Amino acid sequence: MQTERQRAMLRAMGLRVWAPLVTPDADPLPLPEAAAAAPPPRVVEPPPPIRQPAATTARTPSGAPASTPAAAPAPVRTAALRADVAGLDWPQLREAVAACRACGLCESRSQTVFGTGHPQAHWMVVGEAPGEQEDRQGEPFVGPSGLLLDRMLAALQLTRADDGPPAERVYIANTLKCRPPRNRNPAPDELAQCEPFLLRQIELVRPRLILAMGRFAVQALLRSDAPIGRLRGQVHRYHGVPLVVTYHPAYLLRTLADKAKAWDDLCLAAGVVRECS
Ligand code: URA
Repeated sequence: MQTERQRAMLRAMGLRVWAPLVTPDADPLPLPEAAAAAPPPRVVEPPPPIRQPAATTARTPSGAPASTPAAAPAPVRTAALRADVAGLDWPQLREAVAACRACGLCESRSQTVFGTGHPQAHWMVVGEAPGEQEDRQGEPFVGPSGLLLDRMLAALQLTRADDGPPAERVYIANTLKCRPPRNRNPAPDELAQCEPFLLRQIELVRPRLILAMGRFAVQALLRSDAPIGRLRGQVHRYHGVPLVVTYHPAYLLRTLADKAKAWDDLCLAAGVVRECS
């Protein structure tokens, strides 16, 4: 039987009918409560030492096709930036991001897009990169995909509000703090340069779970070039924090068939958070 929460989630994801999601030999999509009661999810060990994500020419979830510049690992500068941001508090980190000129994206951005939400949220959503509207407004996920994200979160009684109970709050950030021109794919060196900022955000929030959304975020965080379809359904770890992989909301807006899988991913994530509580 569907609960109100389940119905809300299905509505948020554009799935109004429950029956097609159930196959004769598969269990119904689990509720978060069911996920919590299920045997502990398989935990995948931490990723191997840092290597650059594979270069690609595919589209970003929300962007136009464009070729990815050749990978140019910058381990020295990245290590220096990591050391620079290591002890920063929230205002200092925000300032450091706003002033960053570590890669060429600073030339074309309108502004940096730092992140938003509750500073002690139990959930952290990590997306890919700001798009046009985010670049204009300075906040992540404010376009159509952000609307879907907010509705998915609301179905789990979660919001990006920056006050209220941390258990019902989400902090949202991107792997890149600047918009790639014409929404082209993030380049590996840009991802590497920007990672220390995200890492510091994670250290400050101390989330119980990271929900990584979209191929570029997922592959960058997990040092993998595997497709999302192969990485989802497991609990990974990023610097010790449990990480669940799911599709990007912009992709879900186009691909009805995978919305049910994203619902499964959210159930898995909710079960992990509950186990930590
Ligand atoms: N897509 C993302 O991954 N992040 C945003 O902030 C907006 C769109």
